[in-house]
Order: sequence, then structure tokens, then C-alpha cells
Amino acid sequence: MNSRQIVLSFIKNRPQFTSLFLLFALTIISFVIKALFSSELPAEIATTYQLIFIAIAAALLSYWIGLPKWWCWINALFPIMIGIFQSFNWSSSIFLAGFLILALFYWSNFLTRVPYYPSSEVVWSEIADLLPSDQPVNVLEIGSGFGGFCLFIKKQKPDATVVGVELSPIIWLYSRMRQQALKIDCQFLRQDYRRMNFAQQDLIFAFLSPAAMPALYLQAKKQMKTGAILASYCFEIPCAHNETIEKIEISYGKTLHIWRKT
Ligand SMILES: C[S@@+](CC[C@H](N)C(=O)[O-])C[C@H]1O[C@@H](n2cnc3c(N)ncnc32)[C@H](O)[C@@H]1O
Repeated sequence: MNSRQIVLSFIKNRPQFTSLFLLFALTIISFVIKALFSSELPAEIATTYQLIFIAIAAALLSYWIGLPKWWCWINALFPIMIGIFQSFNWSSSIFLAGFLILALFYWSNFLTRVPYYPSSEVVWSEIADLLPSDQPVNVLEIGSGFGGFCLFIKKQKPDATVVGVELSPIIWLYSRMRQQALKIDCQFLRQDYRRMNFAQQDLIFAFLSPAAMPALYLQAKKQMKTGAILASYCFEIPCAHNETIEKIEISYGKTLHIWRKT
């Protein structure tokens, strides 16, 4: 195994640990560089050199481990942005407030690898069409965001029991307040779907990320009842070869993947 493969296997097996280690190593090297320049140059210039070093190192490291090009640019841009924002001399409480708001919004997204981005009503109505009109059903949205899907489904199918689960505290709170303001009888829980049991669900809607799909499929396969549906927007359900996935094209390159438990 060469050094690149060793780093890649570390990133794959222990992503958080490896990121922290690389961050720590880069920070130490950058402080050594700053200390070397500080004796001869003004502190601001030494700090600029330090940030330029971090930006170049981050971009090269991203390129070396094979991240898409746009991530190399983003990772290079972060240290530069730190330099720019530091130069504004804003009170540190502004940064603390920004950090807290973002932390409450994104919560443990760095662990789940499923950030927030919304789907649309076109997708929701395709899913509503999958529900039987003559019997009440249990519908669960995993990662329910601001609650649009659950509220929409409950309006379309008032006899359904609709539940949305969401990890992010701020996003969940907003969906809960929205549901109470609109007085629509569905439930929003601040919960991790991975700790739930899907046994009672007739339909589960997921718009997550490729990283979440293998474990979600296994959970659905193990827990869902025969005939129940898992609908995943955008991201493929990695099912066995002898199972079929129905695909509904929503817009260019965006597909709804429908799997039924057999
Ligand atoms: C791509 S967004 C989709 C939002 C919404 N379903 C929609 O279609 O508009 C994914 C959401 O899942 C949430 N999420 C990620 N992992 C989760 C988990 N394990 N349990 C519950 N929610 C999760 C994220 O916080 C985020 O709000």
C-alpha cells in the first residue's frame, strides 16, 4: 500500500479521527511557519503567510486524496475567508453567535453526511399518487426538514397518519411551529430515523444522500412489512439484483426511486 492508499483507507474507516488529525497537523505546521516569519515581518503579514500556507496545503491535500475539483477550491477558500473576516475586526461574539446558529441548524450533519436541502411539491405529488385512496396508511418522512412533505401529504390524504422525523433542532422546531400554526394533524419528532423501527410504515419518503443509502436499505429490508414502499428522491436504493426499483423521472437528472418490500 502506498502512502496515498493508507491515508484514503484511514479516511474511509475513521473519517472524523483522520480529519481531526490532519487539521491538527496542518495547524501546528502553519504556526511554525508563522513563528519563522514573525521575527522579521509584521504580525499581519506573518498571519497572511500562515493562511496562504493553509489554503495551499488544504487544496493540495484535497486534490491528492481525489476530491472533486470544486472541493479543492472550497477548501482553499476557507482559510482565505478567515483572513478576510479577521481583518474586519468584528466582535468575537458575532462569530460565536454565527457558529451557534449554524451548529443548531446543521447539528450532527458532519456525522450523518446528510445536510439540509429541500425537495419540491412535484416530488411530493408523485408520492401522494402512490398511496391507496381506499384505506388509511402510515406515512413516515425520514429527515423531514421544514415539514413541507408531511403537511402536503396530510392535506392530500386526511385519513393518513403522517410523521416526520428530523435531527436538526432549529429545522425541527420550525416544522413543529408551522404544523401548529396551520393546525394540520401530523407529527414532527426530533429523532434519528436510524433508531426507529419501520415495521408500522406503509410508505417512507427519504431525501438524504448517497452516504446514507446502503444502511437505510438494510434497515428498510429488515424492518418494513411486505408491500410497504421506500421512496428515495435523487439517491439510488442499493437493493439486491433480484429486486426491482421503479423510477420516476422528476426533472433532468433527478429521479424518484421506489422500492417495495417483497
Ligand atoms: C436533504 S434534506 C431533505 C429535507 C426534506 N425531506 C425535503 O425533502 O425537503 C435531509 C434532512 O435530513 C435530516 N437528517 C439527516 N440525517 C438524519 C437522521 N439520521 N435522522 C433524522 N433526520 C436526519 C437533515 O437534518 C436534513 O434536514
